[in-house]
Amino acid sequence: MLTIDEAFRKFKSRLELNDKEQANASARQQEVRDYLDTKFSIDNSFLTGSYKRHTKTKPLKDIDIFFVLRDSERHYRGKAPSVVIKDFYDALVDKYGKDAVRKQSRSVNIDFGVVIDAEDNTDYRIVSVDVVPAFTAGDDYEIPDTDSSTWIKTNPKIHADKAVAAHQAFSNEWKGLVRMVKYWNNNPKHGVDKPVKPSFLIEVMALECLYGGWQGQFDRELQALYATLADRIFDTWPDPAGLGPPISNGMDNARKLRARDLLTAAAREASIAIDHTRKGRNGDALKAWRALFGPKFPLS
Ligand SMILES: Nc1ncnc2c1ncn2[C@@H]1O[C@H](COP(=O)(O)OP(=O)(O)OP(=O)(O)O)[C@@H](O)[C@H]1O
Ligand SMILES: [Mg+2]
Repeated sequence: MLTIDEAFRKFKSRLELNDKEQANASARQQEVRDYLDTKFSIDNSFLTGSYKRHTKTKPLKDIDIFFVLRDSERHYRGKAPSVVIKDFYDALVDKYGKDAVRKQSRSVNIDFGVVIDAEDNTDYRIVSVDVVPAFTAGDDYEIPDTDSSTWIKTNPKIHADKAVAAHQAFSNEWKGLVRMVKYWNNNPKHGVDKPVKPSFLIEVMALECLYGGWQGQFDRELQALYATLADRIFDTWPDPAGLGPPISNGMDNARKLRARDLLTAAAREASIAIDHTRKGRNGDALKAWRALFGPKFPLS
């Protein structure tokens, strides 16, 4: 039978980005870019967000692509964020159809109609992308935020550098743990609302909540991480780059209470799984982790 360590290593690798997926993401980026080039004056585009940092979980959904607009499009920057979002939305609906395209607060989402099977596999295809219109602002970028009706500053490089530093300080296990907790967050057993919103908050909290260095056991690290996340979910979590609005603004008090309860329950489930292992009940431990995370956690 699979040991707990083997199971976690397999789980971790199943959540890793592979070459086929990266090829598909790049092809989609190019396809969307080629089309948007016919509608807007775009200086450059790049895959970013958790995808670029390797902290995105599976299935690969909502991959962020920044489309950096040229100066000839700067008039948008003087208008409400909803204007550029609407124009991108209208343009993308023309190509992909109304049912595949959705306005979000900072982006326009395109769904490619990829089927996700019962094991959360997609035949190495990405499910959707978030098209983010952006302008340069010195070394940073400004992106529209229709929730606050303002343009917010962001800096993907700073977020990426912080993730790399945290990963290295944690014996290169940090990103894997972040992907696992984000996979738990997406588990449909929680209903339509994810426990933690936005899921970027999990990564931001993990920058501080995974401390003391990697102790060598996935089960222990995750149990402690869930407990710490539950403890600190009511804290204010600023943008790690110090530019945009706090990442913790995504939840109101009721939603934070729910997040705390679900994180506490996860910590408890993890403790029970660890107890199974300690008492030699390996099969029960595997089942408990699988119930916590979902189908990508292996039973064999
Ligand atoms: N409040 C914010 N201020 C500044 N930058 C932000 C803020 N929120 C998000 N970002 C940046 O925009 C990127 C995309 O945001 P998003 O919410 O998609 O998070 P993500 O890290 O890509 O996580 P997910 O895996 O859920 O897609 C983030 O990775 C981060 O670099
Ligand atoms: Mg994203």
